[in-house]
Amino acid sequence: MTKITYKNQKLSLKEDQTVLNALLEGGYSISHACEQGVCQSCILKASPSNDLPKTSQIGLKSTQQEQGYFLSCLCKPTTDLEITDAEDLGVKFQGEIISTLKLTPSVYALRLKIEGDFPYKAGQYINLIRPSDQTIRSYSLASIYDKNSYQQKYTEIELHIKAFPGGEMSSWLCSDIKAPTQITGPMGDCFYSSSFKGNDLLLLGWGTGLAPLYGILQEALSSGHKGNIHLYHWGNEPEDLYFQKEINIITDQNSHVFYKAGLQCENKIKNLKNLMFGDACALIQKEIPSLKDWKIFLCGSEAKVNKARRIFYLSGADLSDIYADAFFTWQIPESTPKEEKITG
Ligand code: FES
Repeated sequence: MTKITYKNQKLSLKEDQTVLNALLEGGYSISHACEQGVCQSCILKASPSNDLPKTSQIGLKSTQQEQGYFLSCLCKPTTDLEITDAEDLGVKFQGEIISTLKLTPSVYALRLKIEGDFPYKAGQYINLIRPSDQTIRSYSLASIYDKNSYQQKYTEIELHIKAFPGGEMSSWLCSDIKAPTQITGPMGDCFYSSSFKGNDLLLLGWGTGLAPLYGILQEALSSGHKGNIHLYHWGNEPEDLYFQKEINIITDQNSHVFYKAGLQCENKIKNLKNLMFGDACALIQKEIPSLKDWKIFLCGSEAKVNKARRIFYLSGADLSDIYADAFFTWQIPESTPKEEKITG
């Protein structure tokens, strides 16, 4: 039977049990959220001599892998492990919600103030922790890093959050002004690089998947991006679409930025001006027949992102030029709708 040693205590793993599950069963409080290897909140560190399953390090940087970091929710070891907390990756920043703005009946823009310098790239994501019970959710960054903020001893960030009825964390975040929070991150590689300056950019997002794209758009423009930028924002319902006015101001001021908003299907929706209807990928294929050498950013549910990735690959995009920030779904109690979150 495989054993793990954690805080000087040995625990035996049941067959097919993950390290996270064994530690939780053993009464330890281990940060975790998705249990799917996405949020990286359950990261732990094994002794350098330990043999970790490769699958437990998926998504970690090679430098982290070499140091023995692993995702405990994915780790089903076949040999004994000695485990410690990954303090240096799990540094928690203290933050506070300073404003909440209702953008549509269900989408909110939250601004948070983080103590100290918190350098990040728009489009990356953070883990937000509710101090009272350590509940964690991941959200993408819609703002761009203000290099001057450090002189002011704090960093401001903006998140776009969809509130779901019964959504434990989103309801709290969207209602509790001035609430203290803890933050870890930033994480993810879905962000603009100045090396993309001459490339055309395709930004496609669904719902609050606009958040990282809006940040990426601002980052590109503030970096003097030269290529064209095509932003497509899609939703299921009109209230999924927000920031149209803000983006139209940007397109008015930047002749190389193009913007289209649309809804997946037309039924029941009437009299909506300036919206397109139908499948976003099909429309893009028609409008941009070849995506060779484009840099592509996709933000939405995992299914939508994967489908778009396949389609755009067939349209000539190199897979290494496609950056994605996929949502996944939180299971919350039956009879209430599901809550989604965004991760990188
Ligand atoms: S809980 Fe392990 S990666 Fe999210």
